[in-house]
Amino acid sequence: MHRHRSAAAAGRPRPCRRLFSRTPARRARPRDGDRRDMMQQPFTETTRQKKAGDTLLSVRDLSKHFPIRDGVLQKVVGHVRAVDGVSFDIRRGETVGLVGESGCGKTTLSQCVAGLTTPTSGQILFDTGSGKPLGPEDSIARLPKDRQRIFRRNVQMVFQDNFASLNPRELVVDIVGRPLRVYREASGTALTERVVELLEQVGLGRQHLYRYPHQFSGGQRQRISIARALALDPDLIVLDEPTSALDVSVQAQILNLLGDLQHHRHLAYLFVTHDLSVVRHMADRTVTMYLGRVVEEGPTETIFREAAHPYTRALLAAKPDLDDDPEAPLAMLEGTIPDPARPPKGCRFHTRCPVSTPVCGWEVDDIVRLLEADEGLFQSLSGVERRSDVDADLTFADEASALALWEALRSDRVPGAMREATEQLKVEGRSLRVRFSEVDEVHLTPRGEGHRAACVLGQPE
Ligand SMILES: Nc1ncnc2c1ncn2[C@@H]1O[C@H](COP(=O)(O)OP(=O)(O)O)[C@@H](O)[C@H]1O
Ligand code: SF4
Ligand SMILES: [Mg+2]
Repeated sequence: MHRHRSAAAAGRPRPCRRLFSRTPARRARPRDGDRRDMMQQPFTETTRQKKAGDTLLSVRDLSKHFPIRDGVLQKVVGHVRAVDGVSFDIRRGETVGLVGESGCGKTTLSQCVAGLTTPTSGQILFDTGSGKPLGPEDSIARLPKDRQRIFRRNVQMVFQDNFASLNPRELVVDIVGRPLRVYREASGTALTERVVELLEQVGLGRQHLYRYPHQFSGGQRQRISIARALALDPDLIVLDEPTSALDVSVQAQILNLLGDLQHHRHLAYLFVTHDLSVVRHMADRTVTMYLGRVVEEGPTETIFREAAHPYTRALLAAKPDLDDDPEAPLAMLEGTIPDPARPPKGCRFHTRCPVSTPVCGWEVDDIVRLLEADEGLFQSLSGVERRSDVDADLTFADEASALALWEALRSDRVPGAMREATEQLKVEGRSLRVRFSEVDEVHLTPRGEGHRAACVLGQPE
């Protein structure tokens, strides 16, 4: 695999060659029979040059909560906080890698960015060509119809599961040609020729026009998905684990194809993956997500050289071949990701963090999680009376259980940081009173040029 980094992040000037206000006026297209290699003869700018490095899309304090329903009446009993207050930017021509374990909200966030799902709160701002810096009037939820259309055609998505995303009963010519038909870009022979051009750009050809998706390999199907995403010449493609289901050798081919297309078409990518080697290969900047939140973001090189957040470090340590620094901590991730309907207080990573401190957000729910992992004690728990998130009385069916928990909370069965954060721990008969010190949320703070992390350790003075 050769390494692809966009010129934008490398500080190199990048050829800008797009019409600024492409829509609703349609871009001039080659006449029938006047086929050209679009990768070699890009469209020319006429109104204003879009500059590499300009903010293309800005995610501001975005949340997406899914209701949890229960009972015959399907009452809402809680919410899965899949994405919970996320902010970051994507610049023109750059690749932003979005990483994190399965279940941390990457797909939900990428679907919000692609406009496929409506956020619960927060904003997504998109540069539809107003020529002004992005502001509230660029929120995709508020755009007038014509600018909404510009957003829709300029942000495309490629999914991991190409079996599900390609209609098995449609021919390739119809699948790839659909966006062109919907946006009335071409019809008849011209449309077929445009589809052939697109197929050629992704390494397929005319001979594949009249085949069904099942007649292709996984890698070829992903090429078809990419051709469809390219059809309207977008500014941004959201790629949700585009190579995760592919063999390693095919993965490399698709990554190289994506790198070449980006280079030639001045595309920005939001590249979602749980595979850090892919991010290192592809991304200019890396955003790490944990349990619905961004915990670190920065230039990819910085993240791989000196990640500041213990979660990012643990992800890197799980890929030791990627670690340049032999002294880097080799903490491995233990335990499972907590329930996003009940995310931990303070720093959400504190339940698994190998270097947690007393001010990381210890709370009554940490004890409930501990009990859930101990079936005997959990069965005996008869009630939790909370004064606050950090102060409660836990009542058990018998005194022995209350005493057993008291002993556990004073032993190395719980992290030392949790013991240090305990302000009060008292057992009285069947009841145990516990109070932890109250702490604030942990926010992202600057760690260097374009580098931010949400951790109480290593914060600037
Ligand atoms: N439509 C949905 N309804 C309810 N919960 C959902 C829905 N989609 C995703 N989730 C939950 O949101 C959390 C984040 O999921 P997802 O965005 O798919 O994470 P990732 O892509 O990082 O694996 C998970 O706990 C998942 O179960
Ligand atoms: S704030 Fe930092 S040290 Fe504390 S739990 Fe979170 S990641 Fe670990
Ligand atoms: Mg996913």
